[in-house]
Amino acid sequence: MPDLLEKVTSLAKRRGFIFPSSEIYGGFRSAYDYGPQGAALKWNLKREWIQEMVVKRADIVGLDAAILMSPKVWEASGHTTAGFADELAECPQCHKRWRYDHVKGACPDDKAKLGAPKKFNLLVRTFLGPVEDESALTYFRPETAQGIYVNFENVTATQRVKLPFGIAQIGKAFRNEITPGPFTYRMREFEQMEMQWFCKPDSADEWFTYWKQERMHWYVEVLGISPAHLRFHPHAKEELAHYAKTAVDIEYEYPWGWGELEGIHNRGDFDLTNHAKCSGKDISYFDEAINERVIPYIIETSGGVDRAILVLLLEHYKEEEVKSEKRVVLRFPRWLAPLPAAVLPIVKNNNLVVAKAHEVEQVLRAADFQVFYDEVGSIGRRYRRLDEIGTPFAITIDFDTLEQNTVTVRDRDSMQQERIAIPNLVSYIHEQLRKPI
Ligand code: GAP
Repeated sequence: MPDLLEKVTSLAKRRGFIFPSSEIYGGFRSAYDYGPQGAALKWNLKREWIQEMVVKRADIVGLDAAILMSPKVWEASGHTTAGFADELAECPQCHKRWRYDHVKGACPDDKAKLGAPKKFNLLVRTFLGPVEDESALTYFRPETAQGIYVNFENVTATQRVKLPFGIAQIGKAFRNEITPGPFTYRMREFEQMEMQWFCKPDSADEWFTYWKQERMHWYVEVLGISPAHLRFHPHAKEELAHYAKTAVDIEYEYPWGWGELEGIHNRGDFDLTNHAKCSGKDISYFDEAINERVIPYIIETSGGVDRAILVLLLEHYKEEEVKSEKRVVLRFPRWLAPLPAAVLPIVKNNNLVVAKAHEVEQVLRAADFQVFYDEVGSIGRRYRRLDEIGTPFAITIDFDTLEQNTVTVRDRDSMQQERIAIPNLVSYIHEQLRKPI
């Protein structure tokens, strides 16, 4: 669809999904804020990831490590050195700085030949405590993964985990990206959902293949992304991150071309070995089967929460013609929809209808559905508003409701209406929300 990114950016703002950060001060391209719809979509996305990666599995546990960690962590992990750096080049005419690998030699603005590229470390620095000197220097974490590695001992000592097993967490990460954008694709503050899978070194290749398939499957089955818009991109040697033995990206076809959505890496024993070396602690695992201590290999699945949200918006944004009018609809899988249902009294000036509508609203809220109560405008316009935020069910309270204790439920996708008895409404929505796509 031409202009899809512009359309999605505008809808995201207009309907309360994503707002530019600090907008009243002219915006701040490093970050974005999630409005009520965006926040609810994010909660649902994260809930689905936790369901898939932790709740349904006996072999993965959760963690929630701090963003701020000892600076020694980032020395051991290789992030303070040249490994975690992009090449930056300056235009001699306009003095703008560009990521060299993105622009390939010439300034995109005035086509001047860029100066020689220099390494630019991506860590976001800060000083903790009252004195701003070298000893107070620390970093906002650039990946959540290290919080898992430094807790490897704590988890194995306190939980009944046995190789192979995983530790999963979701959290914020920060990188001083040279060129943020487009939209939320690349930001300086973002969120990751990462799972670190610890396994025996000789099984690492097998697990790498397993996790590649599992994660691709998740994007198709749970996020409803068309397989035609997804592909694997195996990393060539020169693309590999400093910690990776092998890596593959799950890529999405964004409006500007293919780009990363999630990275799957075989990190070998790089991280645990380096933390053991730098901390002086024995971070190994006692394998009872062979009566030996081993340093497990790590297969990592590392997805971006913000990128997944962007992909959901791009993938499910549809324009359709209904009775010769354009309807814009976000056809999210129902379980991800920010607001699963809305309650619409057919009129707003009849006390009995309005009271009944609020009663239905309360029934749904008590059943843990976040619902939207809307009595403003014609029913047709209210449906259009709901389509634009992807609400799967619009529940109308009319005069028959008062007589029969039934409501009409309009389906976002088929636009068909069904009459449902109020006592069956909660189970009806529960059932419909989980119907496979
Ligand atoms: N722990 C491994 C790791 O961080 P990565 O490939 O650098 O690997 C993983 O990042 C994922 O995090 C990416 O696939 C992307 O979804 C997300 N991500 C990385 N940098 C980002 C940024 N600047 N803005 C938004 N998302 C980002």
